[in-house]
Amino acid sequence: MAEEKDYSKYFNKPSLKDAKSRKRREVNIEDFAAVKEMAGIGQGKHYHVKTYGCQMNEHDSEAIAGILEQLGYATTDDEKLADIIILNTCAIRENAENRVFGELGRLKPLKVNNPDLILGVCGCMSQEESVVEKLLKKYQHVDLIFGTHNIHRLPEYVHEALISKERVVEVWSGEGDIVENMPRRRANAVKGWVNIMYGCDEFCTYCIVPYTRGKERSRLPEDVINEVRELAAAGYKEVTLLGQNVNAYGKDFQDRTYTFGNLLDDLNEIDIPRIRFTTSHPHDFDELMIATLAKRGNLMEYVHLPVQSGNNAILKKMNRRYTRESYLQLVRDLRSAIPDVAITTDIIVGFPGETEEQFLDTMSLAEEVGYDGAYTFIYSPREGTPAAKMADDVTDLEKKDRLYRLNALINADANTGNMRFQDQVVEVLVEGPSKNDDAVMSGYTRHQKLVNFKADAAVIGQIVDVRITEAKTWHLYGELVSD
Ligand code: 5AD
Ligand code: SF4
Repeated sequence: MAEEKDYSKYFNKPSLKDAKSRKRREVNIEDFAAVKEMAGIGQGKHYHVKTYGCQMNEHDSEAIAGILEQLGYATTDDEKLADIIILNTCAIRENAENRVFGELGRLKPLKVNNPDLILGVCGCMSQEESVVEKLLKKYQHVDLIFGTHNIHRLPEYVHEALISKERVVEVWSGEGDIVENMPRRRANAVKGWVNIMYGCDEFCTYCIVPYTRGKERSRLPEDVINEVRELAAAGYKEVTLLGQNVNAYGKDFQDRTYTFGNLLDDLNEIDIPRIRFTTSHPHDFDELMIATLAKRGNLMEYVHLPVQSGNNAILKKMNRRYTRESYLQLVRDLRSAIPDVAITTDIIVGFPGETEEQFLDTMSLAEEVGYDGAYTFIYSPREGTPAAKMADDVTDLEKKDRLYRLNALINADANTGNMRFQDQVVEVLVEGPSKNDDAVMSGYTRHQKLVNFKADAAVIGQIVDVRITEAKTWHLYGELVSD
């Protein structure tokens, strides 16, 4: 008699309490192993992956696509042709979650028309207990739920979902291991993402990420360096180093002292035109990092430095571990080492209890820094985080009004930031035709400025010189400088 399969092993829901615990243990590094029995299970079938949220998710989706292609699935943009649809979700704010629930509702008829369709949800939302409960109760057409720590197990989950026709739910709440050599289908042939670390131990009081992405763990420098070398050899022109807080890179190493500054310094030696990184936390941006960035070479003159608020009492309530004064000092230090550096930021308005005066401190800080750009957000309570329990007496109207005033200031500064490139010749890594005109090419400078200019499509993928003829708030316009 055939042995009865135990499907309950694929029914494991997340717990925010377990996700919060930070155990002292060594991080295991394992290699992705393709399972022979599953080779070809996607032959003749199609997949469609939809990504929400940050670059980390974009990069995870490249692994999901790579794994599905290894199983034989081919990509499709047409949801109706797909045999498996996966939504890689974001939990950072409530509206990001609402979009996913809306999308799941919209996709339901596809499932009615094609009962064999596998509909999967992964990413940060699936690490939340309340979301998984809701999916299980109200979204019964979702077949597969997995989390951020177990993407490498996708072949097994797809296999189980196919043969069992039951819902497969497998979310690991504890910190994950590091899995090297996952297959990847990179979305871009000249710009690549490279993870340098996973997780976050900062626990900013408003943020869900330390719960959904687990404990901080760094990849070994040799693995990061090899990956950047491989991308360079494959013709990539730009690499973005990814981590929730890249400044904490290496702090978890037990056998060596090696920090983010050391990594930047080693990567500075590699023959690839451009390297940038995201995201940096201001409190541990150290001297070595600044000195290394000042060497320039392949290190781009661009730093994303989230400030969140310009008021010390709010920064304390956010558990940000720096002050307005130390942040401004860091900006001065960066600018004295790299005078033309472009600085962007993230700002939250309407944090619980934020007064008008406290908000005005954020306005004055933004004015003093003169950011090249900023992502601005209205505070969104996230279940399980400390800030969600804080008294919040700021009205919705006030929050919207603050966002509006802040955006007006940020846009004016972005315009000033762009004006400084007027009549200058800048290097542009060309990505492709601009949104509105095929005869106009689009790309980014070393300062991460978007440039549009007339050129032939032959320049796509190359770094070319462009003279800036017009600076606008959202982009620069220029003309190709021929050699
Ligand atoms: N509400 C609003 N914005 C948030 N962010 C993180 N958590 C929240 C929240 N609960 C913002 C921060 C962070 C960016 C990625 O998202 O500004 O830097
Ligand atoms: Fe969230 Fe703070 Fe970690 Fe960034 S550093 S992911 S804002 S907890």
